[in-house]
Amino acid sequence: MDIERRKYEHVINSLKQESQYKISNWLEYVMLINNPLPEIDYYKIDTKTKLFNRVFNYPIYISGMTGGYQEAERINSKLADLAYKYNIPLGLGSIRAMLKNPSLKYTYDVKKARDIFLIANIGGVQLKEYSISQIIDAVNSIEADAIAIHLNPAQELIQGGDLNWEGVRDKIIELADNLNVIVKEVGAGLSYRVIDNLKHSKVLYYDVAGAGGTSWTRIEYMRNPNAVPGFQDWGIPTALALLMNKKEVKLLASGGIRDGIDGYKCLVLGAEMFGMARPFLEAVIKEDYRLIDIVISQLKGAMFLTGVDQLDKLHKVDYLLLDPLRYSYEQIRTSILKRQ
Ligand SMILES: Cc1cc2nc3c(=O)[nH]c(=O)nc-3n(C[C@H](O)[C@H](O)[C@H](O)COP(=O)(O)O)c2cc1C
Repeated sequence: MDIERRKYEHVINSLKQESQYKISNWLEYVMLINNPLPEIDYYKIDTKTKLFNRVFNYPIYISGMTGGYQEAERINSKLADLAYKYNIPLGLGSIRAMLKNPSLKYTYDVKKARDIFLIANIGGVQLKEYSISQIIDAVNSIEADAIAIHLNPAQELIQGGDLNWEGVRDKIIELADNLNVIVKEVGAGLSYRVIDNLKHSKVLYYDVAGAGGTSWTRIEYMRNPNAVPGFQDWGIPTALALLMNKKEVKLLASGGIRDGIDGYKCLVLGAEMFGMARPFLEAVIKEDYRLIDIVISQLKGAMFLTGVDQLDKLHKVDYLLLDPLRYSYEQIRTSILKRQ
């Protein structure tokens, strides 16, 4: 099947309910402690934050989704309108289709002199097919400011895709020497092994993209029902993926975030920003943008109720980790991480 057709099916299938994990992102096991004497003025709450040294109005980004077929141009343009209106970063889908067929460039080329922060995207395993200069040229041709490299072996397994992952690490290191790089999963969660393996690289941000929202194995099973069964809910829930990677690296959080309170919990757990994919896709397809204002209001509400008027004061927030998150995190800290 050609890439264009597959990309189109991905978008259609991701909007079906069966594309979503049956397990949660475990953010319900993070309890923020209400502070009824917040001593701040709600109307002075400032949600500005930085990514790659650039200031954004909100700690929210549009996770990479699409590109490479005709309809994708319309979706990416509408997402770019949102990124511009709210001053938030915009992620694109994999640029592999454009590397294979340069006439598809227009489906990614949505910056159009607008001052938005655009994040190109490519699969880690696909990096092996191209030279670093081919990728740099493609990124520059659409004026992207950074590139997200997605690590998706679970998806590739069910898709019947690329299963030879030898040498991917070195390609990531090489690309990070040349471009602003984010490393991400696609919803099954980055583990501490990834960050440990890349600790000497110049990768700048890690998006844990955990389980609990869109499941790429579920989406691939829809197209490929005879694939090896049992991986529908494979993955590390977002809250656990964040906690296990809480080290010196800069973290982004995504995976099943559907409201501003969950997003805020991710910031409290150490993420610099939180991302959403499917909710933004649904908003542009249905042309119903109310969700974004609701997410922002929830974020501000949660900041108010925890006494935080600026995002550099998150260390003041008290929270509890409930089981099974607390116990799982404890196991990771006391046994697995110690063995490394
Ligand atoms: C239609 C669609 C296409 C996607 N395509 C890509 C992609 O090309 N590259 C990538 O890194 N992630 C891709 N993703 C994964 C998202 O960036 C995100 O990690 C994942 O969907 C989990 O977020 P969610 O639960 O908010 O949807 C895609 C997601 C959707 C919904």
